[in-house]
Amino acid sequence: MSQTSDSLSQAATRRRKASGEPISVLTAYDYPTAKLLEEAGIDWLLVGDSLGMVVLGYPDTTHVTLAEMIHHTAAAARGTTRTPIIADLPFQSYTSPSQAVNSANALLKAGAHAVKLEGGIKMVPQISAITEAGIPIMGHIGMLPQSVLLEGGYKKKGRTPDDAQRLVNDAKAIESAGVFAMVLELVIPEASGQIRRAVQVPTIGIGSGLDCDGQVLVTSDLVGGFPWFTPKFVTPTANVGERIRDAAREFRESLKK
Ligand code: KIV
Repeated sequence: MSQTSDSLSQAATRRRKASGEPISVLTAYDYPTAKLLEEAGIDWLLVGDSLGMVVLGYPDTTHVTLAEMIHHTAAAARGTTRTPIIADLPFQSYTSPSQAVNSANALLKAGAHAVKLEGGIKMVPQISAITEAGIPIMGHIGMLPQSVLLEGGYKKKGRTPDDAQRLVNDAKAIESAGVFAMVLELVIPEASGQIRRAVQVPTIGIGSGLDCDGQVLVTSDLVGGFPWFTPKFVTPTANVGERIRDAAREFRESLKK
């Protein structure tokens, strides 16, 4: 195992959680973004299947293929030398433990140090198989974007005591199966805190309040790179989309005689 992959062992991430130093995670789907984020000192890069919406123009993540994830993982990996790259296993690429291991291996071959999949207790066989294959794996519970068609929208999770307890049970089960960290997506802050306290591996929140061990954002949301839609929980700190439009207008004007 390389030093980068070592930093994603459960022992290492438990120590990191215990240190109290927050973990920063941003998405990168290409070489320049990965290189810039590494230069900025971001802890972990995620080649998320949000790629489907913010780069490939799909309506949701269920359209993203393993081939597309491999292509973008390889590009992001070429932009980094030391930052761990976590690649999403896309929709329908981990329907059985053996398929999950094969898909995870393909992403590792493309340059990922770890993979991520969505789901709680039901995904324990897949998570265990990937862990047994020696591949670091991150969990993802709460709102599961790959289930958006079944769920009929992006809804907050953990609103009732029963739902919060269900999430705690999911978190404990995937921790026992071997995840080195888990994303909590659109979980109400009280439930996020409950989950964070119930597990020893880091919880990485997105739209889930501040009571998490780290935060992840889709980089285009943070920098205003996809100005047609910004999630409610993000305040962009740059306006890249507008700057591109301005630069293009100025270029067009500059050509007029
Ligand atoms: O695909 C993605 O970018 C993600 C984050 C939203 C956590 O899974």
